[in-house]
Amino acid sequence: MRTIDWVSGHIRLIDQTALPGTVAYLDVHTVEELVDAIRRLAVRGAPALGVAGAMGVALAAANLPADRAREVIATLRAARPTAVNLALGVDTALAAFDRGGAAAALEAALTVRDDDIAACRAMARRGTALLDQLLPHRSRLTVLTICNTGALASVEHGTALGVIEKLHADGRLHRAVACETRPLLQGARLTAWELRQMGAPYDVIVDSAAAITILRGGIDAVLVGADRIAANGDTANKIGTLGLALAAARASVPFLVVAPETTVDLETAGGEAIEIEDRGSAEVCAFHGIRTTPDDATARNPAFDVTPADLITAIVTDQRVIDLSANEIPAEGPRPAQHA
Ligand code: MRU
Repeated sequence: MRTIDWVSGHIRLIDQTALPGTVAYLDVHTVEELVDAIRRLAVRGAPALGVAGAMGVALAAANLPADRAREVIATLRAARPTAVNLALGVDTALAAFDRGGAAAALEAALTVRDDDIAACRAMARRGTALLDQLLPHRSRLTVLTICNTGALASVEHGTALGVIEKLHADGRLHRAVACETRPLLQGARLTAWELRQMGAPYDVIVDSAAAITILRGGIDAVLVGADRIAANGDTANKIGTLGLALAAARASVPFLVVAPETTVDLETAGGEAIEIEDRGSAEVCAFHGIRTTPDDATARNPAFDVTPADLITAIVTDQRVIDLSANEIPAEGPRPAQHA
């Protein structure tokens, strides 16, 4: 099962708005349809957005005159602002198009897809090896995660959830704890669905239960993904991630960011420069079409937050482990990460 792929001249993706109830595929033939799918989170998660961006360029290049193609590609690039992978995927395929036309754009898009598959495998290996180093005396781990960082957020395997999948495959997962991830429930709907598919033991918690769960000693490590990692290590990820990092730091629990190198954005110096998407009031003020607030209530709905680098133990990419654990850690607690 691939979350997103190129099939017979168009994009086929799993419509994540229908999960966990239904596995439905969406056939996307135009960039306008793709932009709509991205905005309503039918396809989501930074790596999958990177593939979507690149394939969207291939779609435009194959079907539209050059001027019109560039117009719709600009809209695609800006469809969601926080995950750097979307713009990077677009730029990669567009550069190929400029060099070699539509065929080259498609070839570049398929390479973005294949590179993501390989990167997720590498992250799973590095992430589990790092957990072995950090927690050498724990034979089976209970790990907490937020949002969805699994196959549904990439192509075939995930980032943080890919590490959890490998822990489970290796017999090293005691339990996964998935934050439900208000307001769109990527944790409760998507991560829980993937964990069930894996046959992994898991619990879902409401987001506001995460801090006490971590502070009471029930969690060995927190694993999260990333939408954009600034040059200084500050990391944008799903709203609620920062709170997990604060609780993990208080409890001396390792807090690992797992993301491909493509999510590291050296052009963004620090977290304050990362644009945070606000998705508006409707998602917060109603649930399944039923109003949960007074009619005239407005909401703040930042989709992401930024975790400062000094709260992150390590960033695991497909190519390296970036050790950020300069903080004092108790002798009996986790050891600083080693560069792999
Ligand atoms: O709004 P979403 O569902 O696209 O947010 C996704 C996340 O925040 C993920 O944690 C991130 O993109 C990494 S996915 C491997």
